Amino acid sequence: MTTILAIESSCDDTSAAVLRDGQMLSNVIASQKVHEQYGGVVPELASRAHQQNIIPVVDAAIRQAGIDKKEIDAVGFTRGPGLLGSLLVGVSFAKSFATALGVPLIEVNHLQAHVLSHFIRLTPQPSEGPGSRQPQFPFICLLVSGGHTQILLLKDHFDIECLGTTIDDAAGEAIDKAAKIMDLGYPGGPIIDRLAKEGNPDAFHFATPHIAGYDYSFSGIKTSFLYFLRDRLKEDPDFIEKHKADLCASIQKTIVSFLLKKAERAALDRGIRQVAIAGGVSANSLLRSELQRICNKHHWQAFIPPFQFCTDNAAMVGIAAYFKYLKGDFADITLPPYTR
Ligand code: KG4
Ligand code: ZN
Repeated sequence: MTTILAIESSCDDTSAAVLRDGQMLSNVIASQKVHEQYGGVVPELASRAHQQNIIPVVDAAIRQAGIDKKEIDAVGFTRGPGLLGSLLVGVSFAKSFATALGVPLIEVNHLQAHVLSHFIRLTPQPSEGPGSRQPQFPFICLLVSGGHTQILLLKDHFDIECLGTTIDDAAGEAIDKAAKIMDLGYPGGPIIDRLAKEGNPDAFHFATPHIAGYDYSFSGIKTSFLYFLRDRLKEDPDFIEKHKADLCASIQKTIVSFLLKKAERAALDRGIRQVAIAGGVSANSLLRSELQRICNKHHWQAFIPPFQFCTDNAAMVGIAAYFKYLKGDFADITLPPYTR
């Protein structure tokens, strides 16, 4: 029996989780509200909030798991990529805690953790829907978060080929910027998702760029959205207010269609019949339903994560750490975090 304590602190969520043999016993997440008033994550404030949250969050994760800390066999932590000050809090805590317990440390890459979240086992295991099945290798994973947009081919837990990536902004970043242009609040993703449900996705058309292969680019979509609104606002200062839902539905459809078109192409070209999504944007309701529709069309299997594993959380770090534990892949106490 292997019990892992995992720590995630790469951006603005402080999280700790306990997993036993890949089964989640707890997953505590303290989201930082302090950034909302600034319309984005302020790194200095994030580091401070991690410093305040880390001990209560770890304490809660151990208590909710119903274990004694003496039962912990290893401490997994996100080493990067992320914000340096934020990472330093989690990395330093993990090192101290592992040293105090006399157990090994396991470093985890945040992006691998997002992808491997598909292997977390839940109690009770849902019989259908998100979290009910685990993918088999090889499978394709579209990783879409606030900082990353990648099409990955997983041949094994840690044998991951990157087929395509964004050449500029990440998909989540583009959605957040569109929300910011409309003055909807931060983070914009969940707000656009909610407003889009009331709108017409074909009301407005925003062009997507022609980028070779499986790569993406999102900065042009953001600019065309900005210029479109600037022109309309000249004619009608209330344009955004009047068409908010249609604007959200249209920009969401543009981004989701672009994301899935390339992922579908990659799966077809590689002859892969299982497609997963991961990362914060995988919480998006249109992305989830469209992935399911595309997979049904091709008789492929879709893997859609439970909501709690879409945005940043330590359970995903714990599952990645568990697979590394099985290989005896431990980290040195001197390792510094990496930011990219
Ligand atoms: O994975 P994550 O928590 O942090 C990073 O590693 O970047 O992803 C955060 C991103 C933000 O851009 C946020 O707006 C987006 O995920 N997001 C969503 C939704 N929920 C979160 N985007 C679209 N629809 C959602 N429902
Ligand atoms: Zn993330």
